[in-house]
Amino acid sequence: MSTDFTTPDLSAALALLRAGELVGIPTETVYGLAADASQPAAVAKIFAAKGRPNDHPVIVHIAGIEQLSDWAQNIPESAYQLANAFWPGPLTLILERQAHVSDSVTGGQNTVGLRAPAHPITHELLRQFGGGLAAPSANQFGHVSPTTAEHVRHEFTPEQVSLILDGGACQVGVESTIVSLVGGVAKLLRPGGISRAAIETVLNSAIEHHTDQHSAQQRVSGLLDSHYAPRTPLITGSLAAILKIANEKQQANNKVVLLTQEKHTDLSYPQQKMPDEPTAYAQSIYATLRTLDQQGFDLLLLETPPEGAEWLAIHDRLNRAAQQKLV
Ligand code: TXA
Ligand code: MG
Repeated sequence: MSTDFTTPDLSAALALLRAGELVGIPTETVYGLAADASQPAAVAKIFAAKGRPNDHPVIVHIAGIEQLSDWAQNIPESAYQLANAFWPGPLTLILERQAHVSDSVTGGQNTVGLRAPAHPITHELLRQFGGGLAAPSANQFGHVSPTTAEHVRHEFTPEQVSLILDGGACQVGVESTIVSLVGGVAKLLRPGGISRAAIETVLNSAIEHHTDQHSAQQRVSGLLDSHYAPRTPLITGSLAAILKIANEKQQANNKVVLLTQEKHTDLSYPQQKMPDEPTAYAQSIYATLRTLDQQGFDLLLLETPPEGAEWLAIHDRLNRAAQQKLV
């Protein structure tokens, strides 16, 4: 696949999208699986291809702020402030939907998620398309999100997705930050590419962070289907905690790999050194999990990365990807 995206031929992608077919698209966060948001039958193909429950809403991708009112109504001033500050970019705004926005997109809710992605190919595609593209991450439901075109190719058959636009490796590497502005109150629903602090600076006020307590509890007992997860079980914990498990597993003849913050030359286990910087960590985490997933390990043991605001999105994704979190 070509990585030259200075002169992409978007005509084939536009024709497929207008015909109600799916196209893999690059964004700065992760690759998306796109369909024309105004065609419910096309959006239904996304859910079928991903194996995703029908009541999960999908984000509508647009070229920019000019299209906000095509999809949302009763738009608060805060939406314009945030869109002006961060679009195109990794921020999704949840707003009251326009009446025409289909239940297939909103999951039957009264709200719609909107984002203008920054990747030049997809920005240009959206500009030429004119409408909105419904697009979740281009992975099977629950699996690791894709950050290259090749990852997307591994997730779907050519019958499901005949065209994937190759825009190279994603710069951000984790999904967009989701902020709800419904009812004029700003709530952080998912940490991501734009930091909470940056959003609070623009709004000049603190925002609530909503975590789903119920599902968090289920996750601890291992009942909830995992998200962003490799096929090989992943356990996270302190270096001491994962070394203890590594030792036990090796004695039981299991093949383990350690994903650590430092390289430990005194340890005999296979190791993957993880980046020190949160930006580099986010960029590479999904690709690293996918690569290790294909190397025949029985268990991935990951040292919990540092705490701190700039690591929030990474901790969020690792918590959901991990089968078990050691304390
Ligand atoms: O960075 C991203 O956001 C990527 C790229 C492709 O744009 N997309 C992405 O989509 O992560 P997906 O479907 O994997 O995750 C979207 C999240 C879901 O958790 C969904 O529940 C939430 O956005 N969402 C979408 N519309 C919503 C709405 N109206 N109300 C609440 N949550 C919504
Ligand atoms: Mg996803």
